[in-house]
Amino acid sequence: MDSALRYAETNFDRFTEELEELLRIPSVSTDSAYADDVRDAAQWLVDHFEEAGIETAEIMETDGHPIVYAAHHAGDDKPTVLVYGHYDVQPPDPLDEWESDPFEPTRRNGTIYARGACDDKGQMFMHPKAAEAYLHGEGELPVNLKFVIEGEEETGSIHLPGFIESHAHRLDADVVLISDTAMFAPGVPSITYGLRGLAYTEITLQGPNRDLHSGIYGGGVDNPVHALSDIISNLTDDNGRVAIPGFYDDVRDLTDEERKTYARLPFDEDSWMDEIGIEATRTEAGYTTLECLSARPTLDVNGIWGGYTGEGAKTVLPAKAHAKISMRLVPNQRAEDIYEKMESYLKARCPDTMSLTFRRLHGGKPVLVDTESAAMQSAKAAMGEVVGTEPVFVRNGGSIPIVADFKDILGLDSVLMGFGLDSDAIHSPNEHFAVDRFQQGIRSIIRFHEHYAASA
Ligand code: BES
Ligand code: MN
Ligand code: MN
Repeated sequence: MDSALRYAETNFDRFTEELEELLRIPSVSTDSAYADDVRDAAQWLVDHFEEAGIETAEIMETDGHPIVYAAHHAGDDKPTVLVYGHYDVQPPDPLDEWESDPFEPTRRNGTIYARGACDDKGQMFMHPKAAEAYLHGEGELPVNLKFVIEGEEETGSIHLPGFIESHAHRLDADVVLISDTAMFAPGVPSITYGLRGLAYTEITLQGPNRDLHSGIYGGGVDNPVHALSDIISNLTDDNGRVAIPGFYDDVRDLTDEERKTYARLPFDEDSWMDEIGIEATRTEAGYTTLECLSARPTLDVNGIWGGYTGEGAKTVLPAKAHAKISMRLVPNQRAEDIYEKMESYLKARCPDTMSLTFRRLHGGKPVLVDTESAAMQSAKAAMGEVVGTEPVFVRNGGSIPIVADFKDILGLDSVLMGFGLDSDAIHSPNEHFAVDRFQQGIRSIIRFHEHYAASA
């Protein structure tokens, strides 16, 4: 392990430049205009795995964007770690809020600014670099490695469960290792043991068959934008709870132990509010802010539109109104069940002057992982040694849909060893990742493999 760590130290500058090369490829998965770039990023990775000395690396087709599969066998007696990550990124908009081009990585104060710098190219790329450090520094790996790097995470990993099912034999492993989450706070090494799930919907209310002159028709025709606003305002109540009947039926409550752990975490609510420019929080009654951010389910309108939104005034009574509404789920809620409950609640509230259509965009299952496993304890030891402080186990409010599928389809637990920070602006303008966390990540992964090989 020491030679691998030394190899990494002497090659960190090159590793960072290589990451910047990958960041230059605009692999935006949600927008078909970027489809060729997404494929270029996959091919770049395949070439890169090969250069790093990894035995197998190939593009595997899906009905959507390709998956990069790579593997290196170290020995039949060694445990197998399946690394998952994603090479696709969110769209860069709003472009005019970036201080430098989102696809021309720029270093300022030891930090790389680019779309994907943290989510997830920067974090995913630490894994092939840790493998390279072993292969070139040590001559061998302490574990067998497999990599599944997908190009559709940001659009809900639609094709990945099917891929895992049909290639289950090739993906056979002992544990999944992922770097796509955040640390609880700067300098606090964190291992995520819980993620929220997701149920994402799009709603349309249709009134008259066309937009109408509001002077000629206003007064006699119900307005879909009004009706949608009314429906939305009744989706949550004064206690910050979701009003859909049965929404909380399957929610696993926090254990006393978990609530104590949450209370001990170093959370400064005032500076947290300051950082995002709010003066008060809105939480679910009976739970702390921190609990509401990751262990309680939520409902949020992501976007709402309808009628005239251009410059100046246009007198119009809109025919349609739309909203995108997502819900973050916690164990043991199921997206299918929540979709059904929401759809019937909405339909019951749709006025008989119009019709409502309900689309299910994509869902994901929530997860909780046992913190006592050999793999989780290996992660704890590895991160603790690198950062020099005791790691914490935390739940995270975001979603990585495939984690639950790894468990359900392959029976594998995931270790979520992330090096991002909430302030890294993932999905926002000026996304960034500090070079020192990129390096800490590589050192931690190198140490993880060693600890895990010894414990498994
Ligand atoms: N890496 C994030 C998820 C994340 C971020 C988890 C920070 C924990 C901490 C991932 O790429 C992501 O953005 N997931 C989406 C879900 C997806 C279905 C669009 C999310 O959480 O909104
Ligand atoms: Mn991600
Ligand atoms: Mn993301």
